[in-house]
Amino acid sequence: MIKSIVFLFFISLSFAFSQQLLQIQYYQYEAGQCDGSQSQSGSLEACSSSSNVVSTVYAKFDECLIFNDGFSILSLASSNSLNYSVYENDCNGPIVSSKIIELGSCSANCENEIQQNPFLISIVDQSSIEIPSQDSFATIYYGGDCDGDWKNSFSFIQFMTTNLCVDEGENGSMMLSCNPIINQLTITSFNSLGCKNKSSATEIALSLENCNLFGNNTNMGLYCN
Ligand SMILES: *[C@@H]1O[C@H](CO)[C@@H](O)[C@H](O)[C@H]1NC(C)=O
Ligand SMILES: *[C@@H]1O[C@H](CO)[C@@H](O)[C@H](O)[C@H]1NC(C)=O
Ligand SMILES: *[C@@H]1O[C@H](CO)[C@@H](O)[C@H](O)[C@H]1NC(C)=O
Ligand SMILES: *[C@@H]1O[C@H](CO)[C@@H](O)[C@H](O)[C@H]1NC(C)=O
Repeated sequence: MIKSIVFLFFISLSFAFSQQLLQIQYYQYEAGQCDGSQSQSGSLEACSSSSNVVSTVYAKFDECLIFNDGFSILSLASSNSLNYSVYENDCNGPIVSSKIIELGSCSANCENEIQQNPFLISIVDQSSIEIPSQDSFATIYYGGDCDGDWKNSFSFIQFMTTNLCVDEGENGSMMLSCNPIINQLTITSFNSLGCKNKSSATEIALSLENCNLFGNNTNMGLYCN
Protein backbone atom coordinates (compact mmCIF):
# COMPACT_ATOMS: atom_id res chain seq x y z
CA MET A 1 0.00 0.00 0.00
CA ILE A 2 2.71 2.49 1.01
CA LYS A 3 4.68 1.50 -2.01
CA SER A 4 1.73 2.12 -4.34
CA ILE A 5 1.40 5.62 -2.94
CA VAL A 6 5.08 6.19 -3.54
CA PHE A 7 4.69 5.15 -7.17
CA LEU A 8 1.58 7.30 -7.62
CA PHE A 9 3.50 10.30 -6.32
CA PHE A 10 6.20 9.53 -8.77
CA ILE A 11 3.79 9.44 -11.68
CA SER A 12 2.23 12.77 -10.81
CA LEU A 13 5.60 14.39 -10.10
CA SER A 14 6.95 13.15 -13.36
CA PHE A 15 4.34 15.23 -15.19
CA ALA A 16 5.05 18.29 -13.07
CA PHE A 17 8.82 18.28 -13.56
CA SER A 18 9.36 16.60 -16.87
CA GLN A 19 12.93 16.12 -17.98
CA GLN A 20 15.01 14.05 -20.36
CA LEU A 21 16.33 10.77 -18.98
CA LEU A 22 18.42 7.92 -20.26
CA GLN A 23 16.48 4.72 -20.83
CA ILE A 24 18.56 1.54 -20.81
CA GLN A 25 16.83 -1.66 -21.86
CA TYR A 26 18.53 -4.98 -21.12
CA TYR A 27 17.67 -8.03 -23.24
CA GLN A 28 17.95 -11.78 -22.77
CA TYR A 29 21.42 -13.20 -23.38
CA GLU A 30 21.20 -15.78 -26.14
CA ALA A 31 23.42 -18.88 -26.24
CA GLY A 32 26.63 -18.31 -28.17
CA GLN A 33 26.15 -14.54 -28.33
CA CYS A 34 29.57 -13.75 -26.92
CA ASP A 35 31.70 -16.69 -28.04
CA GLY A 36 31.38 -16.15 -31.78
CA SER A 37 29.37 -19.29 -32.38
CA GLN A 38 26.31 -17.24 -33.22
CA SER A 39 26.11 -15.51 -36.59
CA GLN A 40 27.01 -11.82 -36.49
CA SER A 41 23.58 -10.82 -37.66
CA GLY A 42 22.20 -12.87 -34.77
CA SER A 43 24.10 -10.84 -32.22
CA LEU A 44 23.22 -7.54 -33.88
CA GLU A 45 19.60 -8.57 -33.65
CA ALA A 46 19.92 -9.33 -29.95
CA CYS A 47 18.00 -6.14 -29.08
CA SER A 48 15.44 -6.35 -31.88
CA SER A 49 12.54 -7.92 -30.02
CA SER A 50 10.89 -5.88 -27.28
CA SER A 51 9.48 -9.11 -25.86
CA ASN A 52 13.07 -10.02 -24.90
CA VAL A 53 13.48 -7.02 -22.57
CA VAL A 54 14.31 -8.31 -19.08
CA SER A 55 15.02 -5.03 -17.34
CA THR A 56 14.63 -1.28 -17.91
CA VAL A 57 16.69 1.46 -16.28
CA TYR A 58 15.92 5.18 -16.12
CA ALA A 59 18.96 7.24 -15.22
CA LYS A 60 20.00 10.87 -15.11
CA PHE A 61 22.86 12.17 -17.21
CA ASP A 62 26.23 12.93 -15.61
CA GLU A 63 25.47 11.22 -12.29
CA CYS A 64 27.54 8.53 -10.63
CA LEU A 65 25.51 5.38 -11.31
CA ILE A 66 25.88 1.83 -10.15
CA PHE A 67 25.43 0.59 -13.67
CA ASN A 68 26.38 -2.61 -15.47
CA ASP A 69 28.41 -3.92 -12.49
CA GLY A 70 30.44 -0.82 -11.78
CA PHE A 71 30.42 2.83 -10.80
CA SER A 72 29.82 4.66 -14.05
CA ILE A 73 28.95 8.05 -15.49
CA LEU A 74 26.94 8.34 -18.70
CA SER A 75 27.18 11.74 -20.36
CA LEU A 76 26.27 13.06 -23.78
CA ALA A 77 29.22 13.03 -26.17
CA SER A 78 27.22 14.27 -29.17
CA SER A 79 23.56 14.48 -30.13
CA ASN A 80 23.50 10.74 -30.80
CA SER A 81 26.24 9.26 -28.62
CA LEU A 82 27.20 8.82 -24.97
CA ASN A 83 30.48 8.69 -23.14
CA TYR A 84 30.29 5.63 -20.84
CA SER A 85 33.09 5.79 -18.26
CA VAL A 86 33.60 3.23 -15.51
CA TYR A 87 35.29 4.45 -12.31
CA GLU A 88 36.78 2.99 -9.17
CA ASN A 89 35.11 3.86 -5.82
CA ASP A 90 32.03 6.07 -6.09
CA CYS A 91 33.32 7.74 -9.27
CA ASN A 92 36.02 9.52 -7.24
CA GLY A 93 38.73 7.09 -8.25
CA PRO A 94 40.49 6.86 -11.59
CA ILE A 95 38.66 5.90 -14.78
CA VAL A 96 38.92 2.14 -15.35
CA SER A 97 37.53 2.18 -18.86
CA SER A 98 35.73 4.55 -21.14
CA LYS A 99 34.01 4.24 -24.48
CA ILE A 100 31.55 5.94 -26.79
CA ILE A 101 28.12 4.30 -27.16
CA GLU A 102 25.76 5.19 -30.00
CA LEU A 103 22.24 5.94 -28.84
CA GLY A 104 19.77 3.39 -30.20
CA SER A 105 22.41 0.77 -31.01
CA CYS A 106 22.63 -2.67 -29.45
CA SER A 107 25.67 -3.11 -27.15
CA ALA A 108 26.69 -6.77 -26.99
CA ASN A 109 28.12 -6.33 -23.44
CA CYS A 110 30.48 -9.29 -23.81
CA GLU A 111 33.29 -7.54 -21.85
CA ASN A 112 31.16 -7.86 -18.71
CA GLU A 113 32.21 -11.17 -17.22
CA ILE A 114 29.11 -11.88 -15.16
CA GLN A 115 26.05 -10.33 -16.75
CA GLN A 116 26.40 -10.23 -20.51
CA ASN A 117 22.87 -9.12 -21.31
CA PRO A 118 22.98 -6.86 -24.37
CA PHE A 119 21.58 -3.38 -23.83
CA LEU A 120 20.25 -0.48 -25.83
CA ILE A 121 20.24 3.13 -24.60
CA SER A 122 17.89 5.86 -25.75
CA ILE A 123 16.71 9.23 -24.44
CA VAL A 124 13.14 9.51 -23.20
CA ASP A 125 11.03 12.16 -21.56
CA GLN A 126 10.37 11.48 -17.89
CA SER A 127 6.62 11.87 -18.48
CA SER A 128 6.66 8.84 -20.79
CA ILE A 129 7.92 6.44 -18.11
CA GLU A 130 5.54 3.56 -17.59
CA ILE A 131 5.61 2.14 -14.08
CA PRO A 132 5.05 -1.64 -14.30
CA SER A 133 1.96 -2.50 -12.31
CA GLN A 134 2.77 -6.16 -11.69
CA ASP A 135 5.54 -8.78 -11.82
CA SER A 136 8.10 -6.08 -11.23
CA PHE A 137 10.94 -5.36 -8.82
CA ALA A 138 12.32 -1.81 -8.63
CA THR A 139 15.72 -0.66 -7.38
CA ILE A 140 16.12 3.09 -6.86
CA TYR A 141 19.36 4.89 -6.02
CA TYR A 142 19.15 8.45 -4.77
CA GLY A 143 20.95 11.16 -2.84
CA GLY A 144 19.31 13.26 -0.14
CA ASP A 145 17.74 12.06 3.07
CA CYS A 146 16.76 8.50 3.87
CA ASP A 147 13.08 9.37 4.28
CA GLY A 148 11.69 7.72 1.18
CA ASP A 149 11.68 11.01 -0.72
CA TRP A 150 13.58 9.78 -3.71
CA LYS A 151 11.21 11.30 -6.29
CA ASN A 152 13.32 14.39 -6.85
CA SER A 153 16.75 13.08 -5.96
CA PHE A 154 16.80 9.74 -7.74
CA SER A 155 19.74 9.12 -10.03
CA PHE A 156 18.81 5.62 -11.16
CA ILE A 157 15.66 3.48 -11.26
CA GLN A 158 15.71 -0.09 -12.50
CA PHE A 159 12.62 -2.20 -13.11
CA MET A 160 13.22 -5.94 -13.43
CA THR A 161 10.60 -8.49 -14.39
CA THR A 162 9.94 -11.06 -11.67
CA ASN A 163 9.11 -14.75 -12.18
CA LEU A 164 11.00 -14.67 -15.49
CA CYS A 165 14.10 -16.72 -16.25
CA VAL A 166 16.83 -14.24 -17.20
CA ASP A 167 19.78 -15.72 -19.07
CA GLU A 168 22.82 -13.66 -18.11
CA GLY A 169 25.71 -15.39 -19.86
CA GLU A 170 26.94 -18.77 -21.07
CA ASN A 171 27.18 -20.14 -17.53
CA GLY A 172 24.39 -18.50 -15.67
CA SER A 173 20.79 -17.44 -15.36
CA MET A 174 18.64 -16.05 -12.57
CA MET A 175 15.08 -15.49 -11.49
CA LEU A 176 13.59 -12.93 -9.10
CA SER A 177 10.53 -13.55 -7.00
CA CYS A 178 8.73 -11.22 -4.59
CA ASN A 179 6.93 -12.25 -1.45
CA PRO A 180 4.76 -9.27 -0.46
CA ILE A 181 3.52 -10.98 2.71
CA ILE A 182 6.96 -11.05 4.30
CA ASN A 183 8.30 -8.12 2.19
CA GLN A 184 11.09 -10.14 0.74
CA LEU A 185 12.80 -10.52 -2.61
CA THR A 186 14.45 -13.83 -3.51
CA ILE A 187 17.20 -13.98 -6.13
CA THR A 188 17.70 -17.55 -7.34
CA SER A 189 20.87 -18.19 -9.36
CA PHE A 190 21.50 -21.07 -11.75
CA ASN A 191 24.78 -22.26 -13.24
CA SER A 192 23.40 -22.94 -16.70
CA LEU A 193 21.15 -21.19 -19.20
CA GLY A 194 17.39 -21.59 -18.88
CA CYS A 195 17.26 -21.66 -15.03
CA LYS A 196 17.96 -25.39 -15.02
CA ASN A 197 20.64 -25.93 -12.40
CA LYS A 198 20.07 -23.98 -9.19
CA SER A 199 23.29 -22.84 -7.49
CA SER A 200 22.10 -20.44 -4.80
CA ALA A 201 19.24 -18.37 -3.45
CA THR A 202 19.60 -14.99 -1.73
CA GLU A 203 16.87 -13.31 0.25
CA ILE A 204 16.72 -9.53 0.53
CA ALA A 205 14.39 -7.39 2.64
CA LEU A 206 12.30 -4.83 0.74
CA SER A 207 12.47 -1.20 1.80
CA LEU A 208 8.86 -0.30 2.56
CA GLU A 209 8.82 3.37 3.59
CA ASN A 210 12.46 3.35 4.66
CA CYS A 211 15.57 2.87 2.58
CA ASN A 212 18.68 0.79 2.51
CA LEU A 213 22.08 2.41 2.37
CA PHE A 214 24.31 1.69 -0.57
CA GLY A 215 27.76 3.17 -0.02
CA ASN A 216 28.30 6.37 1.96
CA ASN A 217 26.25 8.91 0.06
CA THR A 218 23.74 6.81 -1.80
CA ASN A 219 20.39 5.69 -0.48
CA MET A 220 18.65 2.73 -2.04
CA GLY A 221 14.98 1.80 -2.20
CA LEU A 222 13.82 -1.73 -3.07
CA TYR A 223 10.17 -2.21 -4.00
CA CYS A 224 8.00 -4.93 -5.53
CA ASN A 225 4.90 -4.27 -7.62
C1 LIG B 1 34.88 10.23 -21.54
O1 LIG B 1 34.91 11.26 -20.56
C2 LIG B 1 36.01 11.14 -19.66
C3 LIG B 1 35.83 12.16 -18.54
O2 LIG B 1 35.63 13.45 -19.07
C4 LIG B 1 37.29 11.34 -20.45
O3 LIG B 1 38.41 11.23 -19.58
C5 LIG B 1 37.37 10.24 -21.51
O4 LIG B 1 38.51 10.40 -22.32
C6 LIG B 1 36.13 10.25 -22.40
N1 LIG B 1 36.14 9.04 -23.21
C7 LIG B 1 36.05 9.04 -24.54
C8 LIG B 1 36.10 7.70 -25.19
O5 LIG B 1 35.91 10.06 -25.19
C1 LIG C 1 31.85 -21.10 -18.50
O1 LIG C 1 32.36 -22.16 -17.72
C2 LIG C 1 33.41 -22.86 -18.34
C3 LIG C 1 33.74 -24.06 -17.47
O2 LIG C 1 33.83 -23.68 -16.11
C4 LIG C 1 34.60 -21.91 -18.53
O3 LIG C 1 35.66 -22.58 -19.18
C5 LIG C 1 34.15 -20.74 -19.39
O4 LIG C 1 35.19 -19.79 -19.48
C6 LIG C 1 32.94 -20.08 -18.78
N1 LIG C 1 32.43 -19.08 -19.71
C7 LIG C 1 32.14 -17.85 -19.34
C8 LIG C 1 31.65 -16.97 -20.43
O5 LIG C 1 32.26 -17.45 -18.20
C1 LIG D 1 24.70 -28.66 -12.93
O1 LIG D 1 25.55 -28.44 -11.81
C2 LIG D 1 26.41 -29.52 -11.55
C3 LIG D 1 27.16 -29.22 -10.24
O2 LIG D 1 27.68 -27.91 -10.24
C4 LIG D 1 27.34 -29.72 -12.72
O3 LIG D 1 28.17 -30.83 -12.50
C5 LIG D 1 26.51 -29.97 -14.00
O4 LIG D 1 27.36 -30.02 -15.11
C6 LIG D 1 25.52 -28.82 -14.19
N1 LIG D 1 24.65 -29.09 -15.32
C7 LIG D 1 24.45 -28.20 -16.29
C8 LIG D 1 23.45 -28.58 -17.35
O5 LIG D 1 25.04 -27.13 -16.35
C1 LIG E 1 32.99 5.66 3.26
O1 LIG E 1 33.05 5.86 4.66
C2 LIG E 1 34.12 5.14 5.27
C3 LIG E 1 34.00 5.30 6.78
O2 LIG E 1 33.60 6.60 7.11
C4 LIG E 1 35.44 5.69 4.71
O3 LIG E 1 36.53 4.98 5.29
C5 LIG E 1 35.47 5.49 3.20
O4 LIG E 1 36.62 6.06 2.65
C6 LIG E 1 34.25 6.14 2.56
N1 LIG E 1 34.22 5.78 1.15
C7 LIG E 1 34.04 6.67 0.18
C8 LIG E 1 34.08 6.12 -1.18
O5 LIG E 1 33.86 7.85 0.39
